[in-house]
Amino acid sequence: MKGQFMKSAISRRGLMGSALAAGAMTLLPGGRLAGAAPLPLTLTAGPATLPIIGDKWPDTKVWAYNGVAPGPEIRVRQGDMVRVLARNNLEQPTTVHWHGVRLPNAMDGVPDLTQAAIPPGGEFSYEFQAVDAGSFWYHPHVNTSEQIGRGLSGALIVEEKEPVKVDRDVTWIIDDWLLRDTGQIDDSFGRGMSMSHGGRIGNTVTINGRIPTEIAVKSGERIRLRLINVANARTFGLDFGKLAPKIIALDSQPVTPHEPANGRVVIAAAQRVDLIIDMTGAPGEKIQVIDNYFSRQTYELVTISHDEGKPLRESPLDAPIALPRNPLPEPVVDDQARRELIVLSGGAMGRMPPGVDKYIQQGQYWFLNDLPSKGRADEPIFTVKKGQTCVIGLVNETGWEHPMHLHGFAFRVLSRNGKPNMRGEWLDTVLIGRQETVELAFVADNPGDWMFHCHILEHVATGMGCFLRVA
Ligand code: C2O
Ligand code: CU
Repeated sequence: MKGQFMKSAISRRGLMGSALAAGAMTLLPGGRLAGAAPLPLTLTAGPATLPIIGDKWPDTKVWAYNGVAPGPEIRVRQGDMVRVLARNNLEQPTTVHWHGVRLPNAMDGVPDLTQAAIPPGGEFSYEFQAVDAGSFWYHPHVNTSEQIGRGLSGALIVEEKEPVKVDRDVTWIIDDWLLRDTGQIDDSFGRGMSMSHGGRIGNTVTINGRIPTEIAVKSGERIRLRLINVANARTFGLDFGKLAPKIIALDSQPVTPHEPANGRVVIAAAQRVDLIIDMTGAPGEKIQVIDNYFSRQTYELVTISHDEGKPLRESPLDAPIALPRNPLPEPVVDDQARRELIVLSGGAMGRMPPGVDKYIQQGQYWFLNDLPSKGRADEPIFTVKKGQTCVIGLVNETGWEHPMHLHGFAFRVLSRNGKPNMRGEWLDTVLIGRQETVELAFVADNPGDWMFHCHILEHVATGMGCFLRVA
């Protein structure tokens, strides 16, 4: 993979990326991070030029919020109001979508469905209460393969009223860029095989907008690491070696703290994983973080480097790490529940539904219940009564995996491939493998039109999206 070349060619330059800078931010009293954006905030989407691949290479022309990619981290406390004025300095319409946030439909940022897109030069003001604590993110919902792919995304962190005790709270926005040898973004958006295959897989992986080299930590330090995957398509499988992190939240929602299966933290496009990591290396010890999701393309993402100084403490901090649950309504899966099946088909090497040639000619290759997004003529895939529990069975009849995302709700994963899911985690984006089935449930308590789509941005652009109506 070309990325391996690029990465090894450029990742050993001793560049201290903003990953480290973010890690170095100091906690102010009350848990706020110095450098977090004050509210109300203006978020201006526009062109910028940034040293993504390091100082010795030419800067990369990107699209950014407030001139930085990722955009400013927005930090609030659970229950706070989030007020953001979005301005558009791009030459095309945009919006801001608050991924994973339960909010009023009109604030969801979906063009033509929940608002008119913000035209070039225009603005829109978003305002909602942060009812759930957790790690969320924001991104445009117009021409997403290109707008997110060129750098438009940022973290929205909602702190618990009483956060777990850690030495540092660090966000890693992990992105995957497709760059040319010039260091500029490959502008083949919307073309080529990626649309009908696995999406736009890049060749340059960044943490907080820079190719990472080393992250400095102290022996004995406890870090809450918030991973946010903003890549267009790539799934990461991160192995932290002997550090053995514990997962405390998935997609913003607390889970019983546990070590990841096979020691690997899997995070698909748009997902978030909150980890507690005790830095158990000795002073001076270096530990590699390896991405081995694709077994033939493993590479070192970053090195965690324990400084030479005296350990912060001799044995790991003995403080609870379980997070309090968010106020999510519990689905009642009985015969009053609304049951729907959504079958994923299409793409290269997958089942093609009958009679879809005319859609394929329009560049629509992916189907939900045999129709691409352009085939529904603005009709919801189904309508649920407000307050009803909705159970969705997902069936993947394609040859690819898909991170399927529901707007506006968190859902419980009830089962996978017919086996009950004992962990019962809440997600807003569930990765469904080839030929797999997943069953999920949520209470449709929030009226409006809510998108349900694949978060591989090239897949949603070519048909793999719909919306459901709660009324
Ligand atoms: Cu992260 Cu429909 O979006
Ligand atoms: Cu997909």
